[in-house]
Amino acid sequence: MTQHDRLLIIDFGSQVTQLIARRLRELNVYCEIHPYQAVTDAFLADFAPRAVIFSGGPDSVMREGSPRPPRAVYDLGVPILGICYGQQVMMQDLGGRVEAGEHATAEFGRAYVEQAGEGDDFLFGWFLEGREQVWMSHGDHVAEIAPGFQVLGTSPGAPFAITADPARRFYAVQFHPEVHHTPNGRTLYENFVRLAGFTGDWTMGAYREEAIAKIRAQVGDAKVICGLSGGVDSSVAAVLIHEAIGDQLTCVFVDHGLLRQNEAQEVVSMFRDHYNIPLIHADESELFLGALEGVSDPEVKRKTIGKLFIDVFQKHAAEVGGAEFLAQGTLYPDVIESVSFSGGPSVTIKSHHNVGGLPEKMGLKLVEPLRELFKDEVRALGHELGLPASFIGRHPFPGPGLAIRCPGEITREKLEILRKADAVYIDQIRKHGLYDEIWQAFVAILPVRTVGVMGDGRTYDYACALRAVTSVDGMTADYYPFTHEFLGETATRIINEVKGINRVTYDITSKPPGTIEWE
Ligand code: XMP
Repeated sequence: MTQHDRLLIIDFGSQVTQLIARRLRELNVYCEIHPYQAVTDAFLADFAPRAVIFSGGPDSVMREGSPRPPRAVYDLGVPILGICYGQQVMMQDLGGRVEAGEHATAEFGRAYVEQAGEGDDFLFGWFLEGREQVWMSHGDHVAEIAPGFQVLGTSPGAPFAITADPARRFYAVQFHPEVHHTPNGRTLYENFVRLAGFTGDWTMGAYREEAIAKIRAQVGDAKVICGLSGGVDSSVAAVLIHEAIGDQLTCVFVDHGLLRQNEAQEVVSMFRDHYNIPLIHADESELFLGALEGVSDPEVKRKTIGKLFIDVFQKHAAEVGGAEFLAQGTLYPDVIESVSFSGGPSVTIKSHHNVGGLPEKMGLKLVEPLRELFKDEVRALGHELGLPASFIGRHPFPGPGLAIRCPGEITREKLEILRKADAVYIDQIRKHGLYDEIWQAFVAILPVRTVGVMGDGRTYDYACALRAVTSVDGMTADYYPFTHEFLGETATRIINEVKGINRVTYDITSKPPGTIEWE
Protein backbone atom coordinates (compact mmCIF):
# COMPACT_ATOMS: atom_id res chain seq x y z
CA MET A 1 0.00 0.00 0.00
CA THR A 2 1.37 3.43 -0.86
CA GLN A 3 2.06 5.87 1.93
CA HIS A 4 0.89 9.37 1.16
CA ASP A 5 3.02 12.36 1.90
CA ARG A 6 1.56 13.76 5.09
CA LEU A 7 1.27 17.23 6.44
CA LEU A 8 0.97 17.75 10.19
CA ILE A 9 -1.19 20.54 11.60
CA ILE A 10 -0.31 21.28 15.21
CA ASP A 11 -3.42 22.64 16.87
CA PHE A 12 -3.03 25.44 19.39
CA GLY A 13 -6.77 25.76 19.84
CA SER A 14 -7.92 28.14 17.13
CA GLN A 15 -11.62 28.10 16.28
CA VAL A 16 -10.72 27.68 12.62
CA THR A 17 -8.06 24.94 12.69
CA GLN A 18 -10.37 22.58 10.83
CA LEU A 19 -10.55 25.05 7.98
CA ILE A 20 -6.80 24.72 7.45
CA ALA A 21 -7.31 21.01 6.94
CA ARG A 22 -10.19 21.70 4.56
CA ARG A 23 -8.06 24.04 2.43
CA LEU A 24 -5.27 21.45 2.22
CA ARG A 25 -7.56 18.56 1.39
CA GLU A 26 -8.97 20.70 -1.44
CA LEU A 27 -5.44 20.79 -2.78
CA ASN A 28 -5.30 16.97 -2.64
CA VAL A 29 -2.85 17.06 0.24
CA TYR A 30 -3.27 14.54 3.04
CA CYS A 31 -3.09 16.20 6.46
CA GLU A 32 -3.96 15.46 10.05
CA ILE A 33 -4.71 17.78 12.96
CA HIS A 34 -3.16 16.91 16.32
CA PRO A 35 -3.32 18.92 19.55
CA TYR A 36 0.02 20.38 20.58
CA GLN A 37 0.11 18.28 23.77
CA ALA A 38 0.12 15.09 21.69
CA VAL A 39 2.98 16.18 19.43
CA THR A 40 6.05 14.78 21.18
CA ASP A 41 9.46 14.07 19.67
CA ALA A 42 8.51 10.40 19.28
CA PHE A 43 5.24 11.36 17.59
CA LEU A 44 7.08 13.60 15.14
CA ALA A 45 9.54 10.88 14.25
CA ASP A 46 6.75 8.39 13.70
CA PHE A 47 4.47 10.75 11.74
CA ALA A 48 7.34 11.91 9.53
CA PRO A 49 5.55 14.93 8.06
CA ARG A 50 6.63 16.45 4.77
CA ALA A 51 5.58 19.83 6.16
CA VAL A 52 4.13 21.27 9.37
CA ILE A 53 1.59 24.03 10.04
CA PHE A 54 1.17 25.73 13.42
CA SER A 55 -2.46 26.79 13.88
CA GLY A 56 -3.66 29.94 15.58
CA GLY A 57 -4.82 29.85 19.17
CA PRO A 58 -6.40 31.94 21.92
CA ASP A 59 -3.46 31.98 24.34
CA SER A 60 -0.66 34.56 24.58
CA VAL A 61 2.94 33.49 24.01
CA MET A 62 3.79 36.06 26.69
CA ARG A 63 2.17 33.83 29.27
CA GLU A 64 4.42 31.44 31.16
CA GLY A 65 3.49 27.88 30.20
CA SER A 66 1.61 28.81 27.04
CA PRO A 67 1.36 26.09 24.34
CA ARG A 68 4.52 25.26 22.34
CA PRO A 69 5.56 22.77 19.72
CA PRO A 70 8.48 20.48 20.56
CA ARG A 71 11.87 22.01 19.68
CA ALA A 72 12.55 19.02 17.44
CA VAL A 73 10.05 20.31 14.92
CA TYR A 74 12.53 22.99 13.81
CA ASP A 75 15.21 20.36 13.15
CA LEU A 76 13.12 18.14 10.89
CA GLY A 77 14.36 20.00 7.84
CA VAL A 78 10.81 20.35 6.49
CA PRO A 79 8.88 23.55 5.68
CA ILE A 80 6.86 25.09 8.50
CA LEU A 81 4.03 27.60 8.24
CA GLY A 82 2.96 29.48 11.38
CA ILE A 83 -0.42 31.18 11.49
CA CYS A 84 -1.33 33.96 13.95
CA TYR A 85 -0.47 32.49 17.37
CA GLY A 86 1.62 30.00 15.36
CA GLN A 87 3.63 32.89 13.92
CA GLN A 88 4.26 34.36 17.35
CA VAL A 89 5.36 30.99 18.71
CA MET A 90 7.75 30.49 15.83
CA MET A 91 9.26 33.96 16.19
CA GLN A 92 9.76 33.60 19.92
CA ASP A 93 11.17 30.07 19.66
CA LEU A 94 13.67 31.13 17.01
CA GLY A 95 14.95 34.28 18.71
CA GLY A 96 12.47 37.02 17.80
CA ARG A 97 10.32 39.04 20.19
CA VAL A 98 6.57 39.32 20.72
CA GLU A 99 4.84 42.21 22.44
CA ALA A 100 1.64 42.09 24.40
CA GLY A 101 -1.36 43.59 22.68
CA GLU A 102 -2.37 47.17 23.18
CA HIS A 103 -5.40 48.78 21.78
CA ALA A 104 -3.45 50.54 19.08
CA THR A 105 -1.92 47.40 17.60
CA ALA A 106 -4.63 44.81 18.14
CA GLU A 107 -6.46 44.00 14.92
CA PHE A 108 -9.73 42.17 14.57
CA GLY A 109 -11.43 41.71 11.27
CA ARG A 110 -10.67 42.83 7.75
CA ALA A 111 -7.26 44.35 7.03
CA TYR A 112 -5.05 44.94 4.01
CA VAL A 113 -1.53 43.65 3.62
CA GLU A 114 0.93 45.53 1.43
CA GLN A 115 3.92 43.94 -0.21
CA ALA A 116 7.28 44.67 1.47
CA GLY A 117 10.68 43.64 0.21
CA GLU A 118 11.37 41.17 -2.54
CA GLY A 119 8.78 38.57 -3.40
CA ASP A 120 9.47 34.93 -2.70
CA ASP A 121 8.02 31.72 -4.12
CA PHE A 122 5.74 31.68 -1.10
CA LEU A 123 4.05 34.82 -2.42
CA PHE A 124 3.75 33.64 -6.02
CA GLY A 125 0.46 34.98 -7.38
CA TRP A 126 -0.48 36.59 -4.08
CA PHE A 127 0.01 40.36 -4.44
CA LEU A 128 -1.87 40.59 -7.71
CA GLU A 129 -3.40 43.95 -6.88
CA GLY A 130 -0.41 45.29 -4.91
CA ARG A 131 -2.29 44.65 -1.69
CA GLU A 132 -4.48 41.83 -0.45
CA GLN A 133 -7.44 41.64 1.86
CA VAL A 134 -6.84 39.39 4.86
CA TRP A 135 -8.58 38.43 8.08
CA MET A 136 -6.79 39.42 11.28
CA SER A 137 -7.63 38.39 14.78
CA HIS A 138 -4.80 39.12 17.16
CA GLY A 139 -4.04 41.00 20.36
CA ASP A 140 -0.29 40.37 20.66
CA HIS A 141 2.02 41.00 17.75
CA VAL A 142 5.58 40.27 16.66
CA ALA A 143 7.85 43.19 17.58
CA GLU A 144 11.12 41.78 16.28
CA ILE A 145 11.53 39.00 13.78
CA ALA A 146 13.84 36.07 14.38
CA PRO A 147 17.32 35.97 12.80
CA GLY A 148 17.25 34.67 9.24
CA PHE A 149 13.72 35.97 8.58
CA GLN A 150 12.70 38.78 6.25
CA VAL A 151 9.48 40.75 5.98
CA LEU A 152 7.37 40.14 2.88
CA GLY A 153 4.17 41.95 3.82
CA THR A 154 2.92 44.51 6.31
CA SER A 155 -0.41 45.81 7.55
CA PRO A 156 -1.17 48.83 9.75
CA GLY A 157 -1.44 46.69 12.90
CA ALA A 158 1.07 44.02 11.91
CA PRO A 159 4.37 45.33 10.55
CA PHE A 160 5.39 41.70 10.18
CA ALA A 161 2.20 40.38 8.62
CA ILE A 162 4.13 38.01 6.33
CA THR A 163 7.59 36.79 7.25
CA ALA A 164 9.84 34.19 5.70
CA ASP A 165 13.14 32.45 6.09
CA PRO A 166 13.41 31.00 2.57
CA ALA A 167 16.64 29.12 3.31
CA ARG A 168 14.94 26.98 5.96
CA ARG A 169 11.53 27.24 4.23
CA PHE A 170 9.94 28.66 7.40
CA TYR A 171 6.99 30.97 6.78
CA ALA A 172 4.82 32.81 9.26
CA VAL A 173 1.79 35.04 8.83
CA GLN A 174 -0.14 37.08 11.35
CA PHE A 175 -3.50 36.68 9.56
CA HIS A 176 -5.66 33.66 8.80
CA PRO A 177 -5.30 32.57 5.15
CA GLU A 178 -7.73 29.67 5.71
CA VAL A 179 -10.85 31.76 6.25
CA HIS A 180 -13.30 32.95 3.68
CA HIS A 181 -12.48 36.59 4.48
CA THR A 182 -8.95 36.14 3.15
CA PRO A 183 -10.24 35.67 -0.38
CA ASN A 184 -6.91 34.77 -1.98
CA GLY A 185 -5.73 32.66 0.97
CA ARG A 186 -5.73 29.44 -1.01
CA THR A 187 -2.79 30.77 -3.03
CA LEU A 188 -0.57 30.83 0.05
CA TYR A 189 -1.44 27.24 0.90
CA GLU A 190 -0.88 26.25 -2.72
CA ASN A 191 2.56 27.84 -2.70
CA PHE A 192 3.44 26.36 0.65
CA VAL A 193 2.59 22.77 -0.31
CA ARG A 194 4.35 23.19 -3.65
CA LEU A 195 7.49 24.40 -1.85
CA ALA A 196 7.20 21.35 0.39
CA GLY A 197 7.09 19.06 -2.64
CA PHE A 198 3.56 17.66 -2.30
CA THR A 199 2.29 16.12 -5.50
CA GLY A 200 -1.43 16.28 -4.78
CA ASP A 201 -1.80 12.49 -4.61
CA TRP A 202 -4.73 12.51 -2.18
CA THR A 203 -7.60 11.65 -4.54
CA MET A 204 -10.80 9.74 -3.96
CA GLY A 205 -9.82 7.06 -6.48
CA ALA A 206 -6.63 6.39 -4.53
CA TYR A 207 -8.49 6.55 -1.24
CA ARG A 208 -11.03 3.99 -2.38
CA GLU A 209 -8.33 1.45 -3.33
CA GLU A 210 -6.46 1.94 -0.07
CA ALA A 211 -9.55 1.82 2.09
CA ILE A 212 -10.60 -1.45 0.50
CA ALA A 213 -7.20 -3.01 1.13
CA LYS A 214 -7.28 -1.77 4.74
CA ILE A 215 -10.77 -3.16 5.39
CA ARG A 216 -9.72 -6.57 4.01
CA ALA A 217 -6.62 -6.60 6.16
CA GLN A 218 -8.56 -5.61 9.27
CA VAL A 219 -11.55 -7.90 8.89
CA GLY A 220 -10.05 -11.04 7.36
CA ASP A 221 -12.88 -13.51 6.85
CA ALA A 222 -14.96 -12.35 9.84
CA LYS A 223 -18.53 -11.09 9.58
CA VAL A 224 -19.43 -7.41 9.79
CA ILE A 225 -22.74 -5.76 10.60
CA CYS A 226 -23.59 -2.20 9.68
CA GLY A 227 -26.46 -0.09 10.96
CA LEU A 228 -27.94 1.77 8.01
CA SER A 229 -29.82 4.96 8.71
CA GLY A 230 -30.46 5.90 5.11
CA GLY A 231 -28.10 8.84 5.58
CA VAL A 232 -25.09 9.47 3.37
CA ASP A 233 -22.35 8.45 5.83
CA SER A 234 -23.59 5.00 6.79
CA SER A 235 -24.60 4.30 3.18
CA VAL A 236 -21.19 5.19 1.75
CA ALA A 237 -19.49 3.15 4.49
CA ALA A 238 -21.71 0.15 3.69
CA VAL A 239 -21.12 0.27 -0.07
CA LEU A 240 -17.36 0.62 0.42
CA ILE A 241 -17.20 -2.27 2.90
CA HIS A 242 -19.32 -4.42 0.63
CA GLU A 243 -16.93 -3.75 -2.20
CA ALA A 244 -14.12 -4.92 0.07
CA ILE A 245 -15.60 -8.04 1.66
CA GLY A 246 -18.82 -8.82 -0.24
CA ASP A 247 -21.40 -10.83 1.63
CA GLN A 248 -19.40 -10.98 4.84
CA LEU A 249 -21.29 -7.72 5.40
CA THR A 250 -24.92 -7.59 6.50
CA CYS A 251 -26.73 -4.29 6.92
CA VAL A 252 -29.40 -3.74 9.52
CA PHE A 253 -31.91 -1.02 8.75
CA VAL A 254 -34.14 -0.20 11.70
CA ASP A 255 -37.38 1.42 10.57
CA HIS A 256 -38.73 3.24 13.61
CA GLY A 257 -41.86 4.43 11.84
CA LEU A 258 -40.57 8.00 11.91
CA LEU A 259 -39.13 8.11 8.41
CA ARG A 260 -40.17 10.34 5.54
CA GLN A 261 -42.44 9.39 2.68
CA ASN A 262 -41.11 6.35 0.72
CA GLU A 263 -37.82 6.52 2.62
CA ALA A 264 -37.81 2.91 3.84
CA GLN A 265 -38.63 1.52 0.39
CA GLU A 266 -35.93 3.66 -1.22
CA VAL A 267 -33.24 2.49 1.19
CA VAL A 268 -34.27 -1.14 0.95
CA SER A 269 -34.47 -1.14 -2.81
CA MET A 270 -31.17 0.66 -3.26
CA PHE A 271 -29.22 -1.68 -1.02
CA ARG A 272 -30.97 -4.95 -1.65
CA ASP A 273 -31.88 -4.64 -5.32
CA HIS A 274 -29.29 -2.27 -6.71
CA TYR A 275 -26.20 -3.22 -4.71
CA ASN A 276 -27.22 -6.75 -3.69
CA ILE A 277 -26.05 -6.09 -0.16
CA PRO A 278 -27.60 -8.48 2.39
CA LEU A 279 -30.03 -6.34 4.35
CA ILE A 280 -32.26 -6.95 7.34
CA HIS A 281 -35.18 -4.55 7.15
CA ALA A 282 -36.43 -4.40 10.70
CA ASP A 283 -39.88 -2.84 10.65
CA GLU A 284 -40.26 -1.92 14.29
CA SER A 285 -42.62 0.99 13.81
CA GLU A 286 -45.32 -0.48 16.04
CA LEU A 287 -42.85 -0.87 18.88
CA PHE A 288 -41.52 2.70 18.61
CA LEU A 289 -44.85 4.41 18.04
CA GLY A 290 -46.37 2.40 20.88
CA ALA A 291 -43.63 3.51 23.25
CA LEU A 292 -44.08 7.13 22.17
CA GLU A 293 -47.83 7.16 22.76
CA GLY A 294 -48.79 10.00 25.08
CA VAL A 295 -45.19 11.31 25.22
CA SER A 296 -44.85 15.01 24.47
CA ASP A 297 -41.66 16.04 26.25
CA PRO A 298 -38.84 16.39 23.68
CA GLU A 299 -36.12 14.88 25.87
CA VAL A 300 -38.30 11.92 26.85
CA LYS A 301 -39.00 11.35 23.15
CA ARG A 302 -35.32 11.40 22.28
CA LYS A 303 -34.33 9.11 25.15
CA THR A 304 -37.14 6.65 24.42
CA ILE A 305 -36.13 6.39 20.78
CA GLY A 306 -32.41 6.17 21.56
CA LYS A 307 -32.83 3.34 24.05
CA LEU A 308 -35.24 1.32 21.92
CA PHE A 309 -33.00 1.74 18.93
CA ILE A 310 -30.09 0.11 20.68
CA ASP A 311 -32.25 -2.79 21.94
CA VAL A 312 -33.75 -3.40 18.54
CA PHE A 313 -30.47 -3.10 16.69
CA GLN A 314 -28.89 -5.60 19.06
CA LYS A 315 -31.74 -8.05 18.59
CA HIS A 316 -31.49 -8.00 14.80
CA ALA A 317 -27.72 -7.96 14.73
CA ALA A 318 -27.82 -11.17 16.77
CA GLU A 319 -29.76 -12.79 13.88
CA VAL A 320 -26.66 -12.45 11.74
CA GLY A 321 -24.78 -14.74 14.12
CA GLY A 322 -21.10 -14.59 14.89
CA ALA A 323 -20.39 -11.05 13.69
CA GLU A 324 -17.12 -9.73 15.06
CA PHE A 325 -17.22 -6.20 13.68
CA LEU A 326 -19.60 -3.28 13.68
CA ALA A 327 -19.23 -0.79 10.82
CA GLN A 328 -19.86 2.89 11.48
CA GLY A 329 -19.82 5.97 9.28
CA THR A 330 -17.72 8.04 11.73
CA LEU A 331 -16.24 11.13 10.05
CA TYR A 332 -13.02 13.04 10.68
CA PRO A 333 -14.67 15.99 12.48
CA ASP A 334 -15.99 13.47 15.06
CA VAL A 335 -12.49 12.14 15.59
CA ILE A 336 -10.43 15.30 15.89
CA GLU A 337 -9.44 15.72 19.46
CA SER A 338 -9.75 19.50 19.60
CA VAL A 339 -7.85 21.60 22.04
CA SER A 340 -10.37 23.09 24.40
CA PHE A 341 -9.46 26.08 26.47
CA SER A 342 -12.95 26.91 27.54
CA GLY A 343 -13.34 24.26 30.21
CA GLY A 344 -16.46 24.44 32.30
CA PRO A 345 -19.52 22.29 31.95
CA SER A 346 -21.53 22.81 28.80
CA VAL A 347 -25.28 22.65 28.86
CA THR A 348 -27.10 19.79 27.16
CA ILE A 349 -29.39 21.39 24.62
CA LYS A 350 -30.62 18.12 23.13
CA SER A 351 -29.75 14.48 23.76
CA HIS A 352 -28.51 13.45 20.37
CA HIS A 353 -29.45 10.10 19.07
CA ASN A 354 -26.25 8.11 18.96
CA VAL A 355 -25.18 4.55 19.35
CA GLY A 356 -21.80 5.37 20.82
CA GLY A 357 -21.89 2.76 23.57
CA LEU A 358 -23.05 -0.02 21.31
CA PRO A 359 -19.76 -1.70 20.31
CA GLU A 360 -18.65 -2.26 23.93
CA LYS A 361 -22.08 -3.46 24.93
CA MET A 362 -22.13 -5.99 22.11
CA GLY A 363 -18.47 -6.93 22.34
CA LEU A 364 -17.80 -5.88 18.76
CA LYS A 365 -14.76 -4.30 17.18
CA LEU A 366 -15.24 -1.22 15.00
CA VAL A 367 -14.68 -0.76 11.29
CA GLU A 368 -14.73 2.95 10.46
CA PRO A 369 -13.55 3.46 6.89
CA LEU A 370 -14.54 7.15 6.75
CA ARG A 371 -12.61 8.25 9.85
CA GLU A 372 -10.18 10.30 7.80
CA LEU A 373 -12.76 12.11 5.68
CA PHE A 374 -14.72 15.32 5.85
CA LYS A 375 -18.38 15.37 4.84
CA ASP A 376 -17.80 16.62 1.32
CA GLU A 377 -15.06 14.03 0.84
CA VAL A 378 -17.56 11.34 1.84
CA ARG A 379 -19.84 12.70 -0.86
CA ALA A 380 -16.98 12.56 -3.37
CA LEU A 381 -16.29 8.97 -2.33
CA GLY A 382 -19.97 8.11 -2.70
CA HIS A 383 -19.80 9.53 -6.20
CA GLU A 384 -16.68 7.46 -6.91
CA LEU A 385 -18.56 4.36 -5.72
CA GLY A 386 -21.43 5.09 -8.08
CA LEU A 387 -24.11 6.10 -5.56
CA PRO A 388 -26.76 8.23 -7.28
CA ALA A 389 -26.12 11.98 -7.09
CA SER A 390 -29.62 12.59 -5.74
CA PHE A 391 -28.84 10.27 -2.86
CA ILE A 392 -25.39 11.69 -2.09
CA GLY A 393 -26.68 15.24 -1.98
CA ARG A 394 -29.53 14.50 0.43
CA HIS A 395 -30.10 16.89 3.30
CA PRO A 396 -29.18 15.54 6.75
CA PHE A 397 -31.97 13.74 8.57
CA PRO A 398 -31.85 13.34 12.36
CA GLY A 399 -31.75 9.94 14.06
CA PRO A 400 -35.06 10.48 15.93
CA GLY A 401 -36.65 11.29 12.57
CA LEU A 402 -40.05 12.91 12.35
CA ALA A 403 -40.56 12.60 16.12
CA ILE A 404 -38.71 15.88 16.63
CA ARG A 405 -40.67 17.58 13.84
CA CYS A 406 -43.94 16.87 15.55
CA PRO A 407 -43.91 18.99 18.73
CA GLY A 408 -46.27 17.66 21.37
CA GLU A 409 -47.80 14.22 21.22
CA ILE A 410 -47.02 12.06 18.20
CA THR A 411 -49.94 10.32 16.53
CA ARG A 412 -50.06 8.21 13.39
CA GLU A 413 -52.50 10.71 11.88
CA LYS A 414 -50.11 13.62 12.43
CA LEU A 415 -47.17 11.65 11.05
CA GLU A 416 -49.13 10.87 7.87
CA ILE A 417 -50.04 14.53 7.38
CA LEU A 418 -46.47 15.58 8.08
CA ARG A 419 -45.05 13.10 5.54
CA LYS A 420 -47.34 14.40 2.82
CA ALA A 421 -46.67 18.07 3.54
CA ASP A 422 -42.92 17.45 3.68
CA ALA A 423 -43.00 15.64 0.32
CA VAL A 424 -44.82 18.57 -1.33
CA TYR A 425 -42.41 21.09 0.20
CA ILE A 426 -39.30 19.21 -0.93
CA ASP A 427 -40.83 18.74 -4.37
CA GLN A 428 -41.32 22.51 -4.58
CA ILE A 429 -37.72 23.14 -3.53
CA ARG A 430 -36.39 20.70 -6.11
CA LYS A 431 -38.62 22.10 -8.86
CA HIS A 432 -37.28 25.59 -8.21
CA GLY A 433 -33.69 24.29 -8.32
CA LEU A 434 -33.00 25.31 -4.71
CA TYR A 435 -32.33 21.94 -3.08
CA ASP A 436 -28.54 22.10 -3.27
CA GLU A 437 -28.38 25.68 -2.00
CA ILE A 438 -30.12 24.68 1.20
CA TRP A 439 -28.42 22.78 4.02
CA GLN A 440 -31.64 21.31 5.33
CA ALA A 441 -35.34 21.79 4.67
CA PHE A 442 -38.36 20.15 6.23
CA VAL A 443 -41.86 20.67 7.55
CA ALA A 444 -42.84 20.60 11.22
CA ILE A 445 -46.47 19.92 12.09
CA LEU A 446 -47.62 22.16 14.92
CA PRO A 447 -49.71 21.02 17.87
CA VAL A 448 -52.47 23.53 17.13
CA ARG A 449 -55.54 23.47 14.95
CA THR A 450 -56.73 26.68 13.43
CA VAL A 451 -59.88 27.79 11.65
CA GLY A 452 -59.92 28.27 7.91
CA VAL A 453 -62.32 28.47 5.02
CA MET A 454 -62.14 26.31 1.92
CA GLY A 455 -64.77 26.66 -0.76
CA ASP A 456 -67.86 27.53 1.22
CA GLY A 457 -66.97 25.45 4.20
CA ARG A 458 -65.24 25.96 7.51
CA THR A 459 -62.08 23.97 8.21
CA TYR A 460 -60.46 23.25 11.54
CA ASP A 461 -57.10 21.66 10.78
CA TYR A 462 -53.44 21.63 11.76
CA ALA A 463 -50.99 24.44 11.12
CA CYS A 464 -47.51 23.61 9.91
CA ALA A 465 -44.18 25.42 9.75
CA LEU A 466 -41.74 25.27 6.86
CA ARG A 467 -38.08 25.30 7.81
CA ALA A 468 -35.10 25.83 5.47
CA VAL A 469 -31.63 26.83 6.56
CA THR A 470 -28.20 27.46 5.17
CA SER A 471 -25.30 26.25 7.27
CA VAL A 472 -21.77 24.90 7.02
CA ASP A 473 -21.84 22.29 9.73
CA GLY A 474 -25.21 22.55 11.45
CA MET A 475 -23.66 24.35 14.42
CA THR A 476 -24.95 27.73 13.32
CA ALA A 477 -27.57 28.42 10.68
CA ASP A 478 -29.49 31.12 8.86
CA TYR A 479 -32.99 30.82 7.51
CA TYR A 480 -33.13 30.57 3.73
CA PRO A 481 -34.44 33.74 2.02
CA PHE A 482 -37.16 32.28 -0.19
CA THR A 483 -39.07 34.71 -2.38
CA HIS A 484 -42.63 35.58 -1.37
CA GLU A 485 -43.81 33.97 -4.61
CA PHE A 486 -42.17 30.70 -3.69
CA LEU A 487 -43.63 30.75 -0.19
CA GLY A 488 -47.09 31.65 -1.45
CA GLU A 489 -47.08 28.94 -4.11
CA THR A 490 -45.84 26.33 -1.63
CA ALA A 491 -48.46 27.24 0.97
CA THR A 492 -51.19 26.95 -1.64
CA ARG A 493 -49.95 23.57 -2.81
CA ILE A 494 -49.69 22.16 0.72
CA ILE A 495 -53.16 23.33 1.71
CA ASN A 496 -54.69 22.03 -1.52
CA GLU A 497 -52.83 18.74 -1.65
CA VAL A 498 -52.58 17.75 2.00
CA LYS A 499 -55.77 16.97 3.83
CA GLY A 500 -55.44 18.00 7.47
CA ILE A 501 -53.45 21.23 7.04
CA ASN A 502 -55.12 24.58 6.54
CA ARG A 503 -52.39 27.03 7.57
CA VAL A 504 -48.73 27.33 6.59
CA THR A 505 -46.09 29.49 8.29
CA TYR A 506 -42.40 30.05 7.52
CA ASP A 507 -39.87 29.82 10.35
CA ILE A 508 -37.39 32.70 10.09
CA THR A 509 -35.35 31.95 13.21
CA SER A 510 -31.60 31.63 12.88
CA LYS A 511 -29.43 29.36 15.05
CA PRO A 512 -28.62 30.57 17.61
CA PRO A 513 -30.97 31.56 19.17
CA GLY A 514 -33.18 28.86 17.62
CA THR A 515 -32.09 25.34 16.74
CA ILE A 516 -32.58 23.80 13.33
CA GLU A 517 -35.02 21.11 14.44
CA TRP A 518 -38.05 22.10 16.50
CA GLU A 519 -37.24 19.76 19.36
P1 XMP B 1 -30.24 21.26 15.89
O1 XMP B 1 -31.71 21.02 15.91
O2 XMP B 1 -29.57 20.81 17.16
O3 XMP B 1 -29.69 20.30 14.75
O4 XMP B 1 -29.89 22.65 15.51
C1 XMP B 1 -28.40 20.39 14.18
C2 XMP B 1 -28.27 19.29 13.15
O5 XMP B 1 -28.26 18.02 13.81
C3 XMP B 1 -29.33 17.22 13.34
N1 XMP B 1 -29.84 16.49 14.51
C4 XMP B 1 -29.56 15.21 14.75
N2 XMP B 1 -28.86 14.31 14.03
N3 XMP B 1 -29.31 12.68 15.67
C5 XMP B 1 -28.76 13.04 14.50
O6 XMP B 1 -28.17 12.17 13.84
C6 XMP B 1 -30.02 13.53 16.44
O7 XMP B 1 -30.51 13.18 17.51
C7 XMP B 1 -30.16 14.86 15.94
N4 XMP B 1 -30.80 15.95 16.42
C8 XMP B 1 -30.58 16.96 15.51
C9 XMP B 1 -30.34 18.18 12.76
O8 XMP B 1 -31.19 17.56 11.81
C10 XMP B 1 -29.42 19.23 12.17
O9 XMP B 1 -28.91 18.80 10.92
